[in-house]
Amino acid sequence: QIFRLEDYRESDYLIPEVELTFLLDPQETLVRARLIVERRENVAAVTALELDGDGLNLSSLAIDGTPATGTAFEATPDRLIIARPPSAKRFTLDIETRLQPSRNKALMGLYVSSDVFCTQCEAEGFRRITYFLDRPDILSVYTVRIEADKKAAPLLLSNGNPVESGKLDGGRHFAVWHDPHPKPSYLFALVAGDLGVVSDSFTTASGRKVALGVYVEHGNETRAAYAMDALKRSMRWDEERFGREYDLDVFNLVAVSDFNMGAMENKGLNIFNDKYVLADADTATDLDFANIEAIIGHEYFHNWTGNRITCRDWFQLCLKEGLTVFRDHEFSADQRSRPVKRIAEVRGLRAHQFPEDQGPLAHPVRPRRYREINNFYTATVYEKGSEVVRMIRTILGEDAFRAGMDLYFERHDGQAVTIEDFIKAFEDASDRDLAQFALWYHQAGTPHVAISSRYDAGEKSFTIEIEQSVPPTPSESRKRLMHIPLAFGLVGADGQDMAFDAVEGAVVEDGVIHVRKRHHSVRFTGVPARPVLSINRGFSAPITLSGETSTDDRLFLARHDSDPFSRWQSLNTLFTEALLSATRTVRGGDEPLFASELVGAAVSLAANDALEPAFRALALTLPGEPDVAREIGANIDPDAIHTARIALLKAIAREGRATFDALYAGLHDNAPFMPDAAGAGRRALRNVLLEYLALADENPAPAKRQFDAADNMTDRAAALTVLANHFGETQEARAALSAFEARYADDPLVLDKWFQIQASVPAPETVALMRSLMEHPHFSITNPNRVRALIGTFAMGNQRAFHSADGSGYRLVADTVLALEAHNPQVAARLATAFRSWRSLETGRRDEARRVLSDIAKHENLSRDLADIVERTLA
Ligand code: ARG
Ligand code: ZN
Repeated sequence: QIFRLEDYRESDYLIPEVELTFLLDPQETLVRARLIVERRENVAAVTALELDGDGLNLSSLAIDGTPATGTAFEATPDRLIIARPPSAKRFTLDIETRLQPSRNKALMGLYVSSDVFCTQCEAEGFRRITYFLDRPDILSVYTVRIEADKKAAPLLLSNGNPVESGKLDGGRHFAVWHDPHPKPSYLFALVAGDLGVVSDSFTTASGRKVALGVYVEHGNETRAAYAMDALKRSMRWDEERFGREYDLDVFNLVAVSDFNMGAMENKGLNIFNDKYVLADADTATDLDFANIEAIIGHEYFHNWTGNRITCRDWFQLCLKEGLTVFRDHEFSADQRSRPVKRIAEVRGLRAHQFPEDQGPLAHPVRPRRYREINNFYTATVYEKGSEVVRMIRTILGEDAFRAGMDLYFERHDGQAVTIEDFIKAFEDASDRDLAQFALWYHQAGTPHVAISSRYDAGEKSFTIEIEQSVPPTPSESRKRLMHIPLAFGLVGADGQDMAFDAVEGAVVEDGVIHVRKRHHSVRFTGVPARPVLSINRGFSAPITLSGETSTDDRLFLARHDSDPFSRWQSLNTLFTEALLSATRTVRGGDEPLFASELVGAAVSLAANDALEPAFRALALTLPGEPDVAREIGANIDPDAIHTARIALLKAIAREGRATFDALYAGLHDNAPFMPDAAGAGRRALRNVLLEYLALADENPAPAKRQFDAADNMTDRAAALTVLANHFGETQEARAALSAFEARYADDPLVLDKWFQIQASVPAPETVALMRSLMEHPHFSITNPNRVRALIGTFAMGNQRAFHSADGSGYRLVADTVLALEAHNPQVAARLATAFRSWRSLETGRRDEARRVLSDIAKHENLSRDLADIVERTLA
C-alpha cells in the first residue's frame, strides 16, 4: 500500500480524551484504554469507526459501558472496526489489549530495555499498544495510570504532571499522570523501572518553577550532569531567542540503552538513546558532548515546534523536524563557535543528504508518497529541511524571520498543520511571496549552479554569469526553476569586500543574489579593480557549484575572505580537486604528485594563530573518501581514492613535519579536561596533527604515546584510531586495542567505540575481521547501538572495505540486514540504505552490489520497511 498526500482526509471522529491504565508485567501487560470518541461537527451520517492496530490482541471491548459482542465489531491484529457506532455525538470505548513487552525487539510501542519498561510511539508505535486513530491530527488529553511491581519498578513516569500515587496489594504500586495539553498519540510515553536520577529545577522567564529529572541506570548519575546542564541551557535559550517558555511543572528525561534512533520528544518525558545522555571525560569524546548538547536541545525545542504545534499528517514531518534541526543548529552555534558549527553542518549535509538526493532514494523535503513512514526519517527531511528554514531566514532577514516565527506560534498553537501554513506565516509577516521558494519543499534533487565571471577594467564593471539546473530524480524528470539565495562578496586585494555603484540582472540585497531564473547575467558597475568572487558564503543555499575559479583565487580566498566558511570551502575545494586528479593518476598506474602551493597553504594555515584551533582542525581535515567519490560521480574505484588520499596526507605530513611537531607539543593541555568548545577545538587540532605526525615518519610511536598518556576519551580514541587505521599490523596497535577492550569491557557505550574504530579501518582485511567481531561475546544483534557501531560504521563509514571488489563487504552487510529484519525491520531498512550509491561504482562492484540487492529482494515476507528500501534502491 502506498500513502499519498493528496488522499488526506479529516477523520470523521475525534478522540478528545484518553484514559490509559497499564498493569505492567514484562511477560504480559494488560492495557485498558478508555477513549472518549466524538463525531466531528460536519459529519452528518453515522459512519464506521476504524481504529488502527499493529499486532494487537484484543481482550475485551465495551461501547458506552456495555460489553460488545458478535457482529458489533471486527478485530484483527491490525484493525478494530465498529461498523455502526452509537449515533450520539459522543460515546466511550473501553478497549483491553494484552502485550508482551519483553518480547518486543522491534523497539516500537511498549518494550523492555535493560529491565526498564519504555515506549517509542513515533511514528506509528501507539497502535502497538492499543487500537486508536493513530494519526497526528487526532489530539487528545491523556490521563495515565501505571501499576507495577514496586521493587522492580519504583519509578513510574508518563507525560504531563504527576497527580497521584500510592501502594497496592501484592507488592505493587501505582502512579497517575495527567497531561493537560492535547497531543497526538505519537507523543505518548511511559517509563517504569528502577533508575537513578539527577534532579534540578528551572524557573521560566514568567516565573514557573519546573522540576527537572534526568533518569539513568544506577551508577551513571555522574555521567548525567552534562545532559542536565545542556537541558537548562536549552530552556533558557528558547526563551531568549524565540520567546518560548516551558509549559508544565515537570520535565523528565530518561536514558535507555536500546533505542532505534537518537531520542524522542514525548511531551514532558523525553526518552533518549543513552549515547546522547551519558558523558564524562573518561568515557565520552568532545563529539559526544557536542551531540548530547545538540540532541538535548533538539528534543526540548520540539516542545514548541512539534508538540504545541504538530503535523497534520506524516507527509509534513519536516514541519517539525527541519524546523527543530534548524533551531538546534542555532542553539549549538550560539553555545559554541558559529563558523565552526556551520562548517560541520555543511560537511554533514554533503556526506549524508547529498548522496540521498543524488541517488535512488531521493525524495522531496516534503514527500508526496510513502510506503513506510519510518523510512522517511531521512537526512533530506531533517538536514535539508533545516537548510530550507535557514534560507527563509536569509531571504527575510533576522527580524522578519522572527516575526514570521512569532506569527506561526500565535496562529497555530494547539493545531496540527502543514508546510503551507508554515510558509504562509512568513509570507504574511514579511509581505513577501514565497511561492517559488516553496519548491525547496516540493522538488527533490540538489540544484546545481554554474558560475563564471569577468572584470572589465575599462568599464569598471564586474559581471557574474549564473546558470541554475536541477537534475532529474526518481519519478520527477522535469524540474521547475528554483529561488536560490546566494550570499556573496566581491573581495578586494586587501581582503575587504569592495563596494559597487549599481547592479543589474538580478535582485541583489544585503549581500545576497536572488537567483530565480535559469540564467542571470549580474552586472556590477563602479567596481574599481578586479575582485575575487566569493559565492555561496556560509553555504547560503544547499547546492552544488561549478566554475572556473583559478587556484590562485582560491588560495587568496582561503587566506583573506571575511567569511570563514568560504575560507574553509576554498581550501577544501582545492584539496578535492587535487584528490580527483590524484585518483586519476593512481588509476593510470602512476604515483600522484601534489602542488607545493597547496601543501604549503595547509601547513601555514595550521600554524596561523589568528585562527581558532577548531577552525584550523577542520581546514586540515582532508575531504573524506566518500566526498571524493561523490565528486567523481560515476565509475568509482574506492581503492584508487584511498591510495590518492593517503598520498596527499603523507605529502602534507612530510612538508609540515617540523611545524606540526612544535604545534602538537604546544597544544598540550595541562589543565583538567573541560568539555567546552575552546578545549575541544585545541584537542581537535592536536588530534588532526597527530595523524600527520604519525604518517610523516610512518611510525606508531607518537600515537602510542598519546594513547598511553591520555586523560580523556577524545585523545585516547583519536590515538587508537590512528594506530588502527595506519599501523594495524604493529604490536603497538594490537596492545592498545586490547588494553582499551579490557578497560571498558563493562561499559557498552565505550565498547561501541572499540567496535567502531575497528569497523572503520580502511583495509580489505577488515571484512574478515568483521566476521570475527560479530562472534565477539559482546556483539549483540538486538542492540541498535552495537549494530550501528559495528555494522553501520562498516557499511556507511568505511567506503573502501564495504566496497571490497569481491563483494564480500556487501554480503556481510546483506546477511546482517536479513538477520535484523526478523526482529527489527526499522534498523534493518536503515542499514540497507548503505547500498544507495551502488550505481555510481565501477562495473565489477556494481554487478556485485546488484546481485546482493536482488538476493535480498527475492526473500519472501520481507518487512514493508526493507522491501520499500530495497525496491526503490534497485528501481
Ligand atoms: N522525533 C524524533 C526526533 O527527535 C525521531 C523519532 C523517530 N522515530 C522513529 N521510529 N521513526 O527526531
Ligand atoms: Zn526531531
